[in-house]
Amino acid sequence: MRQQLSILRIGHRGDGIAETADGQVFVPYSLPGEIVEVERTGDRAEIVTIIERSSDRIAPICPYFGTCGGCAVQHWKENEYRAWKRGLVIAVLANAGIEAPVGELIDAHGAGRRRAVLHARRGGREMLAVGFAGRRSHIIVPIENCPVFAPSLKRAIPVAHKVADVLDQAGKLLDLQFTAADNGLDLDVRGSGTLKPKVIARLAAIASEEKLARITRHGEMVAQIAEPFMQIGKARVMLPPGAFLQPTVQGEETLAALVIAAAGKPKSVIDLFSGIGTFSLRIAEGAKVLAVDFDSAAIAALRRAANTPGLKPVETMARDLFRRPITAPELTGYDLAVLDPPRQGAEGQAREFAKSKLGKIIYISCDPASFARDAKILSDAGWKLREVTPVDQFRYSAHIETMGVFTR
Ligand SMILES: C[S@@+](CC[C@H](N)C(=O)[O-])C[C@H]1O[C@@H](n2cnc3c(N)ncnc32)[C@H](O)[C@@H]1O
Repeated sequence: MRQQLSILRIGHRGDGIAETADGQVFVPYSLPGEIVEVERTGDRAEIVTIIERSSDRIAPICPYFGTCGGCAVQHWKENEYRAWKRGLVIAVLANAGIEAPVGELIDAHGAGRRRAVLHARRGGREMLAVGFAGRRSHIIVPIENCPVFAPSLKRAIPVAHKVADVLDQAGKLLDLQFTAADNGLDLDVRGSGTLKPKVIARLAAIASEEKLARITRHGEMVAQIAEPFMQIGKARVMLPPGAFLQPTVQGEETLAALVIAAAGKPKSVIDLFSGIGTFSLRIAEGAKVLAVDFDSAAIAALRRAANTPGLKPVETMARDLFRRPITAPELTGYDLAVLDPPRQGAEGQAREFAKSKLGKIIYISCDPASFARDAKILSDAGWKLREVTPVDQFRYSAHIETMGVFTR
């Protein structure tokens, strides 16, 4: 249905929102103040023409913007974009009834993303498409270049072409997860099925030609030129295939610096959802740490790195914190808990914190809604959210990282 809509604001997914007699309509790539003619289906609409253009509209930096699903907001002036991202955090906290000072948004894009999952598929007439999924679709938008990538990730696209070409997979979707380790690209391939020896040999040749650190398939070794590693503070962590890393170097350094500054001088810290030790290994330069995560490969890598001379003792525990949060009695003896859960947040863990005698919690979150829900649990139990810092390491997307410090 054709309609004219006035865009009022940008929502938490980066779409413009119009209010109509029959409810909200979401219009990707529109901006507040714009009047747009759209083709509407239900509560979603595609722009046909911009009738009145916002003076805050700018040219996107990428030719694929609008078709590639990787970025949602490249067309907005920086100050307005920054205010919107910070506003996402302010809005969810206000909705949850939590009063807390929200600091200025810290831009942590730095040199760009160091991790990406590219998709590849052979389409009709055997053409190979390598790129990202389109917005709200599974169709691959082929890309030659991504301006959001750090220079260390730039070879990922040509390498993905070579690798996908070898993994002849008759129309099946391949996921190629690239990580720029400190000593080269680490690639984990998914969706290829079992690899024949001839294919493994060809992949090993690509690893060597392209100076990749490693290729794995579903975490199993295919070829290794050098064991991929990453320096975290004083420690060198050997990366498990597909390990979680903060998406930008600057994001990792910014979050780590915020955590260390907010920590003060604790003696004993528990780091939950620790991954490979982004925070644990830095905190261990001044305090002993127990690091907990359910990913046993990440925990093993962290344990190995914890032997670095000059660090305080780091204990590790592989545990599913959704099924078995660390209980209030188990938290006894720690001065500080750091947690950095996945998008679901850590509701069960927050309930245990609420009952505990802990003095301080530093909560890093990649989802403002689950952060606000957990903050409400803590606030109802007498904790105060003293500071909130929004960090933008997913520039041009609707994702936002939040660091919150709670004390009694
Ligand atoms: C956002 S990452 C943070 C990792 C780490 N703090 C970092 O900065 O690199 C979330 C971590 O939660 C872990 N995780 C996810 N679900 C979990 C669960 N149910 N129990 C324990 N850990 C879990 C993942 O393995 C991952 O390491």
